Amino acid sequence: MSAQPKIYVAGHRGMVGAAIVRALRSKGQTNVISRSHAELDLTDQAAVRAFFALEKPDQVYLAAARVGGIHANNTYPAEFIYQNLMIEANVIDAAFRNDVKKLLFLGSSCIYPKLAQQPMREDALLTGGLEPTNEPYAIAKIAGIKLCESYNRQYGQSHGVDYRSVMPTNLYGPGDNYHPTNSHVIPALIRRFHEARLGRAAEVVVWGSGTPRREFLYVDDMAAACVHVAGLDKAIYDDHVEPMLSHVNVGFGSDVTIADLAKIVARTVGFTGRIVFDSTKPDGAPRKLMDTSRLKVLGWRPEVELERGLAMAYEDFLSNVPRS
Ligand SMILES: NC(=O)c1ccc[n+]([C@@H]2O[C@H](COP(=O)([O-])OP(=O)(O)OC[C@H]3O[C@@H](n4cnc5c(N)ncnc54)[C@H](OP(=O)(O)O)[C@@H]3O)[C@@H](O)[C@H]2O)c1
Repeated sequence: MSAQPKIYVAGHRGMVGAAIVRALRSKGQTNVISRSHAELDLTDQAAVRAFFALEKPDQVYLAAARVGGIHANNTYPAEFIYQNLMIEANVIDAAFRNDVKKLLFLGSSCIYPKLAQQPMREDALLTGGLEPTNEPYAIAKIAGIKLCESYNRQYGQSHGVDYRSVMPTNLYGPGDNYHPTNSHVIPALIRRFHEARLGRAAEVVVWGSGTPRREFLYVDDMAAACVHVAGLDKAIYDDHVEPMLSHVNVGFGSDVTIADLAKIVARTVGFTGRIVFDSTKPDGAPRKLMDTSRLKVLGWRPEVELERGLAMAYEDFLSNVPRS
């Protein structure tokens, strides 16, 4: 019998799940199990229950989710809310039924109200209306936090259940989605500047005024934070959270303007032309920054600066597209 805990990472083929597997392995964890979406559809309750009953994991990292940009969220709201609610409910309940004591649920900064005070603290949750474009997704993620808290409250004492939640800011890095129309800002800019360099374009047009500020965290930092939070002593964790306000923000701790981000991406990619901002396109919120004081007090800080992270992200991008 292995002395190591058996750890199930749900969503191990995704950007974050893959990074969590890397982080666990780098900590010497060898007993990590996973299933692809094709092997195990987490919206299928019977299949999830059968999987947990068979494998009996000791710990769970729940990084599987139906994820997408504004367009996908707006086009498929029913799929986003239904699939995410089902994934969370099935995995968290099956974990409980199979005596899993430790589970880490991954949410997102979109759980906070559209007009939340910046930087966004954990206690901004449920204090105002959400951004309408991803409200169904955000509601499902809030339900995931509340599932963890409710299982802790009902079964913490009796069964030793200790289910935690982390809410990451915008992430980037290896395994990102570089789809031309359906990707987040960093992969979209990497692709656009890369193609502009190859095509010897004189300029690249970036949507919006360039003035909004955004926060970005390298995905391996995020994974390290997940392993850190999951591994914290229960007494320490409990000291810094509340039973009904238990999630922990994970961010870089500072933000950059989109204009500065575009300049760094251009430099990273080797694009030397002009960067033009199209102010007729929407900017979105002027600022979105997480307050990461809770995580700092819990003993974790990010390591990867934006420039270095972007260089590593670009290397990953190049390894997936032909070099020129
Ligand atoms: N990326 C970010 O910037 C960011 C920021 C904040 C929070 N997060 C959170 O981090 C988590 C992971 O995000 P990610 O960026 O790693 O997403 P991702 O790259 O799209 O990965 C999600 C994974 O979940 C799997 N999955 C989806 N539906 C499934 C189902 N029904 N059954 C089994 N597996 C299923 C996907 O498999 P298939 O691809 O085969 O469907 C994929 O491997 C999410 O909770 C997300 O909200 C991400």
